[in-house]
Amino acid sequence: MKDAQPRAIFLKDYQEPDFWIKKTDLDFQLNDEYCEVTSTLTFVRNDKADKNAALILHGQDLDLQSLAIDGKALSEEDWQTAEESLTIHSVPDAFELRCVTRIKPQDNTSLEGLYRSRTMYCTQCEAEGFRKITYYLDRPDVMSEFSTRIEADKNAFPILLSNGNPVESGEADNGRHWVKWHDPHLKPAYLFALVAGNLCNIDDKFITQSGREVLLRIFVEEKDTDKVDHAMQSLKRAMKWDEDVYGREYDLDIFMIVAVDDFNMGAMENKGLNIFNTSCVLANKDTTTDFSFQRVEAVVAHEYFHNWSGNRVTCRDWFQLSLKEGFTVFRDSEFSADMNSRTVKRVEDVSLLRTLQFAEDAGPMAHPVQPASFIEISNFYTLTIYEKGAEVVRMIHSLLGPELFRKGSDLYFERHDGQAVTIEDFVAAMADVSGRDFNQFMRWYRQAGTPVLTISDRYDANAQTYTLTVKQSCPPTPESESKLPYHLPLKMGLLGDAGALPLKLRGAAADTETADNTSIVLEVKDAEESFVFENVQEKPVPSLLRDFSAPVKLKYNYSRMDLARLMSLDTDGFCRWDASQQFALQVIYDVMRDLTKAPSPEVDEAFIEACKAVLEDESLDPAIVALMLTLPSEDYIAELATVIDVESIHFARNHVKRKLAQKLYATFLQVYERLQTHEAYSPDAESIARRSLKNLALHYLVQSGKEEGLKLAEAQFDNADNMTDSQAALTNIAHAGSSAAESLAERCLKDFYGRWKNESLVVNQWFSIQARNPQRDALKRVETLMQHEAFDFNNPNKLRSVLGGFAMGNPINFHDRSGNGYAFLAQQILKLNKQNPQMASRLLTPLTKWKKYDEHRQKLMKAQLEIIKKEEKLSPDVYEVVTKSLS
Ligand code: BES
Ligand code: ZN
Repeated sequence: MKDAQPRAIFLKDYQEPDFWIKKTDLDFQLNDEYCEVTSTLTFVRNDKADKNAALILHGQDLDLQSLAIDGKALSEEDWQTAEESLTIHSVPDAFELRCVTRIKPQDNTSLEGLYRSRTMYCTQCEAEGFRKITYYLDRPDVMSEFSTRIEADKNAFPILLSNGNPVESGEADNGRHWVKWHDPHLKPAYLFALVAGNLCNIDDKFITQSGREVLLRIFVEEKDTDKVDHAMQSLKRAMKWDEDVYGREYDLDIFMIVAVDDFNMGAMENKGLNIFNTSCVLANKDTTTDFSFQRVEAVVAHEYFHNWSGNRVTCRDWFQLSLKEGFTVFRDSEFSADMNSRTVKRVEDVSLLRTLQFAEDAGPMAHPVQPASFIEISNFYTLTIYEKGAEVVRMIHSLLGPELFRKGSDLYFERHDGQAVTIEDFVAAMADVSGRDFNQFMRWYRQAGTPVLTISDRYDANAQTYTLTVKQSCPPTPESESKLPYHLPLKMGLLGDAGALPLKLRGAAADTETADNTSIVLEVKDAEESFVFENVQEKPVPSLLRDFSAPVKLKYNYSRMDLARLMSLDTDGFCRWDASQQFALQVIYDVMRDLTKAPSPEVDEAFIEACKAVLEDESLDPAIVALMLTLPSEDYIAELATVIDVESIHFARNHVKRKLAQKLYATFLQVYERLQTHEAYSPDAESIARRSLKNLALHYLVQSGKEEGLKLAEAQFDNADNMTDSQAALTNIAHAGSSAAESLAERCLKDFYGRWKNESLVVNQWFSIQARNPQRDALKRVETLMQHEAFDFNNPNKLRSVLGGFAMGNPINFHDRSGNGYAFLAQQILKLNKQNPQMASRLLTPLTKWKKYDEHRQKLMKAQLEIIKKEEKLSPDVYEVVTKSLS
């Protein structure tokens, strides 16, 4: 923690380091009281640097024992330490520095650097955690060859791991042993990893496209050896996919994954030694939901893909974070689309983006995909860097097409292998293979905010022309008041009475039209421009932004009839879904308007009919049906609102849901019964799709308020043979809220805990279901949960389940008019500020959105931010978010 106020650093100030580190030799002596780290670093002065420049290394919370240069011990006058650095005043142009420090992993609650998780030691170095291990040039443009020797008690820590290949091992005195690892690939310190523990390994192998055999090894605690298979299969699929789609092969003889319980994030791509939060790697049919199965597959793939997009080619500085994260999210999302349903994956990604990233872009923490400045980099692992960054890469893919995009990525990897580069380098490779001009496109990286496309149209029956006029604008964000127009692909089609119409764009070369001739990508560049289609025989309904081809808010004045037509006729799965959401929104807005006049307003019959048609169409993918019948979330409705009316959104949405449930009760019941199965559980896409619709039907049956609905949920809870069905039933019962449901909920929650109390990941779900319960008295329940024997304030997964579940998954209770939810969260954040600044700052997010609420809530939220701001020793993480939110 710093005493002075944390300061921002700027992209424009980037300079190469004064020194490079050619070799990094590390020795770890793990003892109960401390860990002694001896580093031997081979430095050479950067040719471009001042010959007299001192050596300044990063370091934090280190107990320095000794320093020597080229074998000669340094005396106290030769160097100087500060809170976060070590300066050695005078050094030669090339030298070896030997440095001994002690650290206390057992006291490290920040979960950055070297720390203890239950019975093992592990590391997390991204972004700036390596400096908590030893003094170093902890910046991604300093790439070095690492050797690591680890020594520890053999009984307690039989497994000792680091990056690369094991090269030597042996016994030492007092029951100790050691292993030495060598990583032949140059890497920055953020990719370093070390693990020591009593772990079991599950092995498999993969033969690469060039015929090399790679050992795949997943380490878990003994009790979890039955939950490794899914991750292993996912890993092999990911390795194959990266060879097939990107031509990328793995480059070491061994690839390891370790599962740890205490982890701030989902997982980390350390070279050859990925470290995973148990929640993102463990899975089996008894304990894991469909959702988590798919999450494990995606995260395993994501971290594996970083081996090229991130590790072989890394980031020059942390302003380039999206270079690896945006690109890798795009890669893992395409992988998931190929492994499962493409449309479902797209809808899930777009929902996340539109709900949370758009909200981020509209709030005080808004920043460009390539930020211009930051105070604490940990705060910039955001939805904008990840999800918007992935959308920007996707747009490049759409503009270039798959073949040129692949050529571009080949050139990028070849040109920059072993280098630390910038987003500009990535785009330059794409420009070089295509001959296209990306200058205007770069605004996607440099301007924050979500662009708005306003589209109007005109049909001329005589000329048989149809004209689309596209206007774009972008609201101001903290970093800039005014924005320049974006270059974006607008994929679209036209629907006639009977379906898709052929497209003939005026002035277009024939090859800009797609093969089937009913879908086209328009390139929008100006603040306003028009596109004319010829030979249009009837007045069409436009199907706009197919596949969500650009991360924008689209405004077009659809009638409800148009929306119904898109829902039933459009050939683009994404647009069909989006039409259902737009229709639902209109109906929810009706109710929000009418609720003040009537206690139980009617819901537009046309909407109910459209839903019924979708439900009864057995030719549709059941997963898409489930998504179309899921009403827009309270968070999404809130994002769209100018002023968020918490109660009105909650009640109107529930009202529409109940009406739909009552009017279509028989249909939901039919669907529910039709989708029952006696087949054994399997988490393949098709079975997952059927379960998702079945459980959506169950949700409506319970929400109808009919006793039978609840009975069905009870039966499903008692008889389920898999976690997805069991949890769906439990959630429905626990959240039902009727007096009939109350004692049943109590019984089921108790049973569930009794059955799963030894499965920590299942208990997290049990916590989360209760923390998200929209019924009254949520805060009291949350406080009780925090006293529960299974709760652990030091474990991020438990914090996310309970505090995150309440503050981010229970809007009606968190935003209770009393302000008690806000005050409670602020107290927890203050408790966490010292212990785990990253978690503290993430949990702050809901309070940062205060400007979107009514005056009463604004005051209450702001007051809590002020209280946090007054705290004396604020971490830079919390300081940055609080001050930016209040300015
Ligand atoms: N490199 C990150 C993990 C990370 C993030 C470490 C921030 C330190 C600070 C990793 O590749 C990642 O992005 N993980 C995601 C999951 C992924 C599927 C998007 C995560 O941890 O949530
Ligand atoms: Zn990542």
